[in-house]
Amino acid sequence: MRFHGTQVAAGLLSALPGAQALLRFSCSQLVVERLDPLVNPGVVGSPPSSPDRRWRKFHEAINAFNASMDPAKLDIPGTATCTTCQFADDFSNYWTAVLFFRARNGTYHRVPQKGNVFFEQANGGMTVYYTPTINGRGKVTAFKPGFRMIVGDPMERTAAGAAKYRQLTYTCLQNSMTRTGETKNLPPKPCPAGIMANIRFPTCWDGVNLDSPDHASHVAYPTSGTFESSGPCPSTHPVKIPQLFYEVIWDTSQFNNAADWPADGSQPFVWSYGDATGYGTHGDYVFGWKGDALQRAMDQNCQNDKCNGLGSQSLQQGNKCTVKTTVDENIDGWLDELPGGMKVTDASGKVVY
Ligand SMILES: *[C@@H]1O[C@H](CO)[C@@H](O)[C@H](O)[C@H]1NC(C)=O
Ligand SMILES: *[C@@H]1O[C@H](CO)[C@@H](O)[C@H](O)[C@H]1NC(C)=O
Repeated sequence: MRFHGTQVAAGLLSALPGAQALLRFSCSQLVVERLDPLVNPGVVGSPPSSPDRRWRKFHEAINAFNASMDPAKLDIPGTATCTTCQFADDFSNYWTAVLFFRARNGTYHRVPQKGNVFFEQANGGMTVYYTPTINGRGKVTAFKPGFRMIVGDPMERTAAGAAKYRQLTYTCLQNSMTRTGETKNLPPKPCPAGIMANIRFPTCWDGVNLDSPDHASHVAYPTSGTFESSGPCPSTHPVKIPQLFYEVIWDTSQFNNAADWPADGSQPFVWSYGDATGYGTHGDYVFGWKGDALQRAMDQNCQNDKCNGLGSQSLQQGNKCTVKTTVDENIDGWLDELPGGMKVTDASGKVVY
């Protein structure tokens, strides 16, 4: 049956009385490799010897993608040949880190992704949301060509530090519909239907800068309340932008055997950037909608994966959009170390394993 996600969206937003229209659509996985084009443009294989080791990342990239991601080249729709997203006009790039399982014998295995509820036929990737406003109050300004941002900090390892990223969480899926019990740390117990990483970006923009040196300070959270409670934007970042939100489902089912979990009772999953806590979770975004398509979708309060005047394609068509990997290394099977030799570190930067 064709997906019309109203019931899912309503379920997801049940805590938000009167919640209205939002785009919710699937973008299949495009490529999995050790590239960090937003922070290290043009560098193939995020450099293990980089002095700034915080940015050694290993990403799952979604959509139009090129290692150079030249910031001067603003016309992403003009350079991409296809998109993995259901909206055919969306050539944005969405990245997350990659989750690994660490077995008792110290070897690592990549955790596959799977499609979300009603997007089961997607080749992994993520569900992307753009929410204009809650309760229809006011308007949002869509991102401009060249806009990019990162939310979260891959060096973060503590709950206190992660608190400033208000809405980066995990859902321990008891079944595919679970939408309660979000935590900021990786779930401590096996999750029968997988771990969903929830990545919500800030919703206020300075109105001027398409990017900033840390890729984050040109955006901000509301001064009080939240986007969901229609909290006001700070005077430094007065422009209200859509709430961009990724849901990424990691299919942990093959790693849920208690006998394979650490004997000390800790949880066995670790992010590709060396984080076994989960507090360093982050998402990267490079805007790439064609023309004013996103603004039109926001202005019309379009719902889910269809919008008047916007091109769309099936999940199967999206799955067909792929790119060749540019980093030649084995990332599957049991690995002796994380890709790039990444070490797992604690809050003080000390290597844990
Ligand atoms: C990536 O972009 C650069 C600069 O625009 C171009 O020279 C290169 O051919 C592109 N690579 C791929 C794989 O498309
Ligand atoms: C390590 O443990 C995994 C999971 O139990 C197993 O599949 C793999 O063969 C083991 N590797 C070695 C070298 O023992």
